[in-house]
Amino acid sequence: MEEQGKQQEIEIEEVTAQENVIAVRDLVPMRAAMDDSMERIADMKDQFSQTIDPILRMYNAAMCATTARLEIIEDEFKYRKLRCPIHHIDTRLKSAKSILGKLQKKDLDLTLSAACNNIYDIAGIRVVCSYIKDVYLIRDRLMAQDDVMIMQIKDYIETPKENGYRSLHMVIRVPVYFMNKKQLVPVELQIRTLAMDLWASLEHDIKYKCLYQTETENFSEELKECSRLIYEAEEKMEMTCFVAVHSMLLTMYENLSDMPFYSALEDATGVHMTFTAISSMGDDGTALSLMIAADDLTDIGC
Ligand code: GTP
Ligand code: MG
Repeated sequence: MEEQGKQQEIEIEEVTAQENVIAVRDLVPMRAAMDDSMERIADMKDQFSQTIDPILRMYNAAMCATTARLEIIEDEFKYRKLRCPIHHIDTRLKSAKSILGKLQKKDLDLTLSAACNNIYDIAGIRVVCSYIKDVYLIRDRLMAQDDVMIMQIKDYIETPKENGYRSLHMVIRVPVYFMNKKQLVPVELQIRTLAMDLWASLEHDIKYKCLYQTETENFSEELKECSRLIYEAEEKMEMTCFVAVHSMLLTMYENLSDMPFYSALEDATGVHMTFTAISSMGDDGTALSLMIAADDLTDIGC
């Protein structure tokens, strides 16, 4: 009986930049040197592809676990009948071939530990939001989860890349529970707006096409200009959204305060003060706070 009640010990492993942290032996310990024969390199690649399978399962599990966390946030907004900050989520798991290609490009050993310690986008999630504020809202909600470790944040929205690319990149480490162990696995997140996503996919297409053209045209100035115009449009749309939400809340508040039950509310003054405080705020959380307040006021009315 005592034995049954005892909690099973769970081994915790962290996929970190330290050596020998993954439980899988490196079967391909050599770098593909220039003097290696083509057969040998092909053999190494083959071995790598076979041995990386369990590792890919681990990254896939981390990707699903992170997506579930995002879907829970999404669901909470829908449940509260609030505008959801997430438009859609895309996921992709890097293939063994693509991991090998990246290792070679970075001139690293063709080993599993080199892959785990240097390639952080094996599990990749793209969260596409409607507004810039939503991007930071998602970042903050993830950062607020106490078992999520932040490994890296690159804010290409605040500081766009030279070519005009804008997006928020995060590498986080999430816990994944297996039968007898817990592993902390890195996942790369790209959080961006719909407009930024459109720009990135067009830029990617153009870059890809140019690679295969003999006469390469240079669209870099046009792309940069498009990125700037998109930024301006997004700022305007965000302001429109804020004004619309604000006026919706105002109408809702006026209607509510006209209702007979309102004066009977014990905390009518408190509600009024909260509304006034929220509606005069100009920070990033305003739109969300306004919507939550609208939700709460509606609840009072029910
Ligand atoms: P990696 O070793 O590839 O991770 O390099 P990095 O860490 O310097 O890359 P970064 O975090 O800046 O970008 C990683 C990913 O973001 C890329 O694989 C692309 O999917 C996307 N990305 C970055 N820059 C651009 C860009 O200029 N255009 C487009 N379309 N996508 C980009
Ligand atoms: Mg990266």
